[in-house]
Amino acid sequence: MIDKYLNKIIKGDCIELFKLIPDESVDITFADPPFNLKKKYNSHKDSLIIQDYLDWCEQWIKETVRVTKPTGSIFLHNIPKWLTYYSSMLNKIADFKHWICWDAPTMPMGKTLQPSHYGMLYYAKDTKKNKFYEIRYPHKRCRKCNYLQKDYGGKKAALHPFGPLVSDVWTDIHRVKHNKYRDDHPCQLPIHLLERVILMSTDEGDIVFDPFSGTGTTAVAARRLGRNYLGFELDDEYANISMNKLTQESASSKIGNSWVSYFLSGIVTLRDKDWENISQYYLIPNTAKQVDCVEIKLKDIEQSCICPS
Ligand SMILES: C[S@@+](CC[C@H](N)C(=O)[O-])C[C@H]1O[C@@H](n2cnc3c(N)ncnc32)[C@H](O)[C@@H]1O
Repeated sequence: MIDKYLNKIIKGDCIELFKLIPDESVDITFADPPFNLKKKYNSHKDSLIIQDYLDWCEQWIKETVRVTKPTGSIFLHNIPKWLTYYSSMLNKIADFKHWICWDAPTMPMGKTLQPSHYGMLYYAKDTKKNKFYEIRYPHKRCRKCNYLQKDYGGKKAALHPFGPLVSDVWTDIHRVKHNKYRDDHPCQLPIHLLERVILMSTDEGDIVFDPFSGTGTTAVAARRLGRNYLGFELDDEYANISMNKLTQESASSKIGNSWVSYFLSGIVTLRDKDWENISQYYLIPNTAKQVDCVEIKLKDIEQSCICPS
């Protein structure tokens, strides 16, 4: 039974710990493994020879598919170089959905084009049964004039007041840059990146699993969104940081009855199907065309929602 492991961060090597997890028992698996780029982790040595790294990856990739439910999804986050190998491994055992490009500048690598995105492979265990929700993000606007950055031409009358559907290129979520938002970990992901993944692929009460939990970003996002979580982490200190953070989190990232993702007191991801309920909390221009130059605003954020700080 998976129940006894729920809402825990378990310390140890994921290859061993996977043996505890029954087949088809989690709703999504999100894996952000070490990238083999000589990063300074506390416990993991991030410099394997290439074939050893790939063999190790193949072991845990097979396990991610085994433990995920037939309705579930597998997300693998890495640099494009390793994702090309991951894809060839996954294509044999799961169904490709997307290569999500997360636009986030990375370190210069010498005589190459400047790497400017991370990839997230998005596979369904079985496309026909896969759970998926369309999601939206806020319109991008000019900082000076407030007009929409994208030219919608003659289609302004059909503009959605909140913002467009999310595509497979994510340009609106930034890496964790400020030290005050960082834990003592070299590769921490932003919580609202994980919240977007979770809103898109799970329901309240579902199980979100991360075999390389780090300082618990996936678990925190799951907790805020009323999902169950399970994380594995090799390093005691990172696991302890996660567990401390999780004691301060609650299932509260909502507006009205709808789960949403917040960043800096604004909603950054919502489900398309929830807009009908959520729209009552916004001041919205009278005509769709006005959305071009008038930003919609939350009426009274204190009363209408609970945003995690
Ligand atoms: C890229 S980081 C994940 C960061 C995480 N997404 C976050 O936002 O905090 C990879 C993590 O995997 C852990 N790790 C490395 N080898 C592992 C193994 N064999 N089993 C479990 N965790 C491992 C490392 O200690 C590191 O914290």
